[in-house]
Amino acid sequence: METKILKTDGQATDVNIIKEAAQVIREGGLVAFPTETVYGLGADACNLEASRKIYAAKGRPSDNPLIVHIACFADLERIALEVPGQARALADAFWPGPLTMIVKKNAAVPSETTGGLETVAVRMPDHPVALMLIRESGCLIAAPSANISGRPSPTIAAHVAADLEGRIPVILDGGEVGIGIESTIVDLTEETPSILRPGAVTEAMIASVIGAVQTDPGLLSEDSANRPKAPGMKYRHYAPEAELIVVDGSKEAVIQRINALAYELKAQGKRVGILCTDETSAAYRGNVIRSIGSRVDEEAIARHLYRVLREFDEAKTDVIYSESFAASGIGQAVMNRLLKAAGHRVLWA
Ligand code: TXA
Ligand code: MG
Repeated sequence: METKILKTDGQATDVNIIKEAAQVIREGGLVAFPTETVYGLGADACNLEASRKIYAAKGRPSDNPLIVHIACFADLERIALEVPGQARALADAFWPGPLTMIVKKNAAVPSETTGGLETVAVRMPDHPVALMLIRESGCLIAAPSANISGRPSPTIAAHVAADLEGRIPVILDGGEVGIGIESTIVDLTEETPSILRPGAVTEAMIASVIGAVQTDPGLLSEDSANRPKAPGMKYRHYAPEAELIVVDGSKEAVIQRINALAYELKAQGKRVGILCTDETSAAYRGNVIRSIGSRVDEEAIARHLYRVLREFDEAKTDVIYSESFAASGIGQAVMNRLLKAAGHRVLWA
């Protein structure tokens, strides 16, 4: 299949291009499109054949449910069995934006879209192209991140093309995304709401709107007693091809340890990547050294993470050592993705 790459400006002023993509969605086809978090791979959420195409294109396990993207709050009522008061309050505070809510689904949503679950994940993205695509298609759009399953999520259209060119008909190129890490997921179907995946909307921000909220215990540890509740969080994920190891400790100790490890591996003929920050990059000796930004700018670190992980692959590294990041604010989401990409391999310097 030939993949058409349609350039659109981030403000969606070129309506005809978006109409062309919307037509593909209406006809049951796939369109990759930008959102404020990462690029999504969209299809009509209420068309089970269209949903199946998403799983096939990504190589995604069929028990891993999709997020349904909507353009107005009334769309939620079209697919939810009931709309909890907490959903209304959270939507007022954070929609459109990087927050996905899990609610009970109604019959309009086929089980192909929800991986067989009776609940559905819903989000209103804060991106003019995404919102116009949903409106122009007249559909609700099921969309996982637009990467091959297990690879880092795409933050520019070229990442989508690298993974999916030839496998999908259309990529809408709307430039680089703003946040760079997938949405926060909050489950509203249990007594106490719980966060199944951390993101730019933090636990504290959610608690300030609805009070009590917990974080899924399966996210914090890797032991088998606590399986993550979002099916997608149990897979090794967001991962570059090279082996990734996070090194934690004081700044000086981390630099020393990583340089020693890199020296050893280089002597064995391995290509070593080092993922660091502006503050430390000059201190490292590896084959491929990449800063993901300054430690004082957590948002930039989130925005650059996936691009830098892909760059290590392009540079054909065998092993990547990474610094560790603060686990507060959006840093918690960064660490969650980094540890998953590393398969939870952490060394103490
Ligand atoms: O920012 C985002 O959320 C991006 C953009 C494109 O919107 N989408 C995204 O989708 O990250 P995906 O498919 O890569 O991640 C969806 C996650 C998976 O971990 C999945 O298991 C979980 O959401 N999920 C979806 N529906 C669920 C449900 N009903 N119950 C529990 N977890 C669910
Ligand atoms: Mg994904």
